[in-house]
Amino acid sequence: SATTNIAITPGDGIGPEVVNQAVNCLALLRQRFKLDLDWHPFPWPSHRWHQQHGESMPADALEQLGAFDAILLGALGDPGPVTDHNRYLLSDSVSLAPLLQIRKGFDQWVCERPARLLPGARQYLADDRARDIDMLVIRENSEGEYVSQGGRLRQGTPHEVATQIEVFTHFASERIIRYGFEQARARAIRRQQHHQTRQFQTLDGRVCDSQVCLVTKRNALRYWGDLYTEVFERMSLEYPDVATHHELVDAACMKFVQSPWAFDVVVASNLQGDILTDLAAVLSGGMGVAPSCNLNPTDPTMPSMFEPTHGSAPDIAGQGLADPTAMLFTTARMLDWLAHKDPIMAAAGLALFEATAADLAQHGGKRRSTAEIGAAVCARLKA
Ligand code: NAD
Ligand code: IPM
Ligand code: MN
Repeated sequence: SATTNIAITPGDGIGPEVVNQAVNCLALLRQRFKLDLDWHPFPWPSHRWHQQHGESMPADALEQLGAFDAILLGALGDPGPVTDHNRYLLSDSVSLAPLLQIRKGFDQWVCERPARLLPGARQYLADDRARDIDMLVIRENSEGEYVSQGGRLRQGTPHEVATQIEVFTHFASERIIRYGFEQARARAIRRQQHHQTRQFQTLDGRVCDSQVCLVTKRNALRYWGDLYTEVFERMSLEYPDVATHHELVDAACMKFVQSPWAFDVVVASNLQGDILTDLAAVLSGGMGVAPSCNLNPTDPTMPSMFEPTHGSAPDIAGQGLADPTAMLFTTARMLDWLAHKDPIMAAAGLALFEATAADLAQHGGKRRSTAEIGAAVCARLKA
């Protein structure tokens, strides 16, 4: 089969620091599994590129990235002085735009953010049932609050009005909710294969082995809430084996902290999914271990993008303190995703996942540098 090509965009702040560790692992995996795999680094998008060129990335950036099978991104966001609050916020709006352009340009309409409290990961919740946390938050990644429509009227006057429009289409609602049900089924099958079971009650008292929880704010944001609810209820008839559940987003936040082990698959809108997944990251050990990906499951000619949930972490950038674990789990997911091109990638992805998880299990509690963690995972891959 043809070479699998990855575009690597390290980005800003701790992005390049954690990406370096991922590249070291990829080099070892290529050797060990004889992968027909290649990668190419890009200095954009990044804040430095913006400073030098006056734009976040070249005009033909999407064309260039479109030639690759996947994109591995560190993080974006100006790592400059956080003390100068205004400058920080203004530079953020230019240096983050390309992230949304890439997601939109390649129609990466699914954002998958699993939250599992793996052995060794820091347990923030005192309740020991936290050890059973194992959920997948699916964030709608193509529209909603992120359409960037609206504007500022009478700007600079005391009568200014800012509008920020949210758009929810039936098409995008249906595909993301269906994706949620399909993932719930797939997770139940995987649990069965590992001789694990989980039980979820439906409202009418039946017991199912998987669940989808839909999150909305339908009591206040009615039009979107009604659309999501109607699509969800209609589709649930096609998946009688999957228990369904609905939470308002404020209550969902409460229950994520109070009883996160009760969730299986969670489907949320773009912004609400963004917020819920920082919370879910902490439930599963913190930003340093939380993977993420932006997928286009419908068009295999479009590259999907793999990046951790965390950002450029300006508060710890340049100190070698960033935990690369999230990036390594994310890279493992990328390899698994690339199995559609070359089945051997799945084995390499599993090896990277297992080496990273084993390292976490052994050393999770210790203070280690970015390089130490990366080297320890590499050592496991060599063994
Ligand atoms: P952040 O995720 O960068 O950091 C939040 C906190 O988590 C910080 O205290 C940070 O030190 C810690 N943290 C994050 N990653 C870590 C890691 N790997 N190891 C150890 N600690 C880690 O969020 P923020 O501070 O709100 O944002 C910083 C910048 O990143 C902003 O410009 C923001 O817009 C951007 N951002 C980018 C992405 C992305 O590119 N995908 C995602 C989120 C935020
Ligand atoms: C994320 C980030 C981005 C988002 C920002 C940096 C635009 O927070 O990937 O979670 O809001 O999607
Ligand atoms: Mn976020």
